[in-house]
Amino acid sequence: MSNKDNTQHEVLISVRWNDGALDLLDQRLLPEETVYLRLTTPQEVWEAIRELKVRGAPAIGIAAAYGVVLGVQRNGQASGRELAEEVRRQAEYLATSRPTAVNLFWALDRMKARSEALAKAGLPAEEAADALLQEARQIQAEDEQTNRLIGEHALTLFQDGMGVLTHCNAGGLATAKYGTALAPFYLALEQGIRLKVFADETRPVLQGARLTAFELQRAGVDVTLITDSMAGHVMSKGWVQAVIVGTDRVAANGDVANKIGTYSVAVLAKAHNIPFYVACPLSTIDLSTPTGADIPIEERSPEEITAGFGRQTAPHGVAVYNPAFDVTPHELVTAIITEKGIVKPSYSENLPKLFNR
Ligand code: MRU
Repeated sequence: MSNKDNTQHEVLISVRWNDGALDLLDQRLLPEETVYLRLTTPQEVWEAIRELKVRGAPAIGIAAAYGVVLGVQRNGQASGRELAEEVRRQAEYLATSRPTAVNLFWALDRMKARSEALAKAGLPAEEAADALLQEARQIQAEDEQTNRLIGEHALTLFQDGMGVLTHCNAGGLATAKYGTALAPFYLALEQGIRLKVFADETRPVLQGARLTAFELQRAGVDVTLITDSMAGHVMSKGWVQAVIVGTDRVAANGDVANKIGTYSVAVLAKAHNIPFYVACPLSTIDLSTPTGADIPIEERSPEEITAGFGRQTAPHGVAVYNPAFDVTPHELVTAIITEKGIVKPSYSENLPKLFNR
């Protein structure tokens, strides 16, 4: 099912549970069309994640958690134990949809742990399935609260009148609400703090142009769209006083995987003496991955580059390299902004402390 929703200026929620099914804003169609897909099976959720109908690390995790719920509801498991086994199977399957964003695995692990606890407590399958839906809802609700806190912390780094550059889309569309890197822009708007945002268009899938420019513009944030190759020029003019991006995974040493092109922006920021900030929830920090070199980097189809939006823009058969993410070494990261506060180097010393408090 799909329905068109043309209401302007209301906050668009990318993932929402609705009466036994998952309504998903099809982000491939933005900014031209606002269409919600109605998903009823884990297979549909897997495909939606793989095809970027839902994208952005936290939103992928939330969608996958609901995907697990879809896999166990009304399936007639005899016991909580059987249900936990099915949750494990569905989680393993959904984990194969995309490799880089650790929030996917984090959310699936959380669903598995909850179903195990429910089975151990001897809950009947039907009650356990209800409790799993509550867990998925809780993951979504927590993400919204977390992002608000990230926004508050991030905003302490910005002053009225500053220019701030961002890459890709780490906004409301990529999360439950507010976003991570875009959260301070929404809070600044609420508080009357004027920031001038530069959004890189973000080749090849244009998350910056199609999503960041779209959601900031409709919220009333002062946003200017530039191509990726203009970032250095804009910095050289003195228009950018800070960079802030989201991330798909932070390694234990503070290396940061994010949308392809982020590393180039970090190098440019360093060359212009501009602070480079990364905003993320704790669920994106993966202490079990030692360095950026250990983060699996997704490679996507050549057509995203050669014929991205329906027109052939490269010779047929040309060799293409299309990694969806790159790694910014921790030396280039000025600070990592989380819901628990702003973390500065040394990251290998300071990131673990976030989890001890
Ligand atoms: O391929 P995408 O669109 O899922 O990539 C998204 C990003 O790189 C985001 O910056 C990241 O997931 C952080 S979202 C808060």
